Amino acid sequence: MKGLILSGGKGTRLYPLTYTRAKQLIPVANKPVLFRVIEAIRDAGIDEIGIVTGDTHNEIVEAVGDGSQFEVYIEYINQELPMGLAHAVKISRDFLRDDRFVMFLGDNVIEGGISDLIRDFDKHPDWNSQIVLTRVEYPQHYGVARLKENGQIDYLVEKPEDPPSNLALVGIYMFDHHIFEATNAIQPSARGELEITDALQWLLEHNYVVYPHIHEGWWVDTGKPIDMLDANSRVLEELRPAIRGVVDELSEVDFRVTIEDGAQIINSVVRGPAIIGRDTIVRNSYVGPFTSIYHHVTIENCEIERSIVLEHSKLRNVGSRIQDSLIGRFADVDMSDRKPIAMKLALGDHSKVRLPLK
Ligand code: G1P
Repeated sequence: MKGLILSGGKGTRLYPLTYTRAKQLIPVANKPVLFRVIEAIRDAGIDEIGIVTGDTHNEIVEAVGDGSQFEVYIEYINQELPMGLAHAVKISRDFLRDDRFVMFLGDNVIEGGISDLIRDFDKHPDWNSQIVLTRVEYPQHYGVARLKENGQIDYLVEKPEDPPSNLALVGIYMFDHHIFEATNAIQPSARGELEITDALQWLLEHNYVVYPHIHEGWWVDTGKPIDMLDANSRVLEELRPAIRGVVDELSEVDFRVTIEDGAQIINSVVRGPAIIGRDTIVRNSYVGPFTSIYHHVTIENCEIERSIVLEHSKLRNVGSRIQDSLIGRFADVDMSDRKPIAMKLALGDHSKVRLPLK
């Protein structure tokens, strides 16, 4: 079996972070989501992976390379325009050939990995496809499945206004080569894309076997900041803690905390689950649950909780607790005693600042 990861897309809902970085490379619990996807596929026993890239091709190639750091072989397929998930499958034909494959959206994070799914698909050569469904609150934002009484799929529909169920398609799909008949037959949707949901519906209508697996654990599509924080919290809860950096005797560090190499915790309190990245300094501060501080960050005289801070940022002397925040690279937040005493902001396009009510 082969793997196909879709890693195109502009990530507009994560602006401004994604002006300068591919959304799939934003870390949750200090590891880029895309790396988690590659590892999930590798851990399911697949070592040949194609990555479909878009505008952020160069950045993804630079971060992932030839795959040797993950002990897999990686080939890149460039999708020049975002023409849909089914279009991405279509242009990957030379890489996929007639092999069965798993397609995994590069911004999805799922509990428990995909080894069991791959094993089931391997055991059933009669299944032409296997899809993963999960119950969601707002099915109209996803592909939606309606099941028959016997549990098999009745039909699938992409982002319906009036959803026939609350079962959404998770961004993990398994196919055999019959999918190419479908991707060649379907027409672009109203948003101008070849939809993978339409290709699956085509398979069903032509009597191919599409088997539904219902996922009971958590799943996050990290499209929006709130989803990023959600994925971060969930992955942090699963992390096996380790203290590799330095914690001084004035500090109090919880048992569910990971302190990476070269990090220093000085006169501070860190409550888990949390992770403090390589060469980061936390001084006279409080880092609360569900926080990931990435590499080379300085946190001084601050309180921060349920947030993600990316590399080389500095948060110093912030009067209020920072919470539910996503802070990009090289951000600098500090207090100033120069007059006028006022807020002085230098924010990127689409930045969001929410100040506490006084
Ligand atoms: C895509 C699919 C949708 C699926 C979702 C999962 O949506 O079209 O069927 O439910 O991924 O993340 P998109 O991210 O393109 O809006």
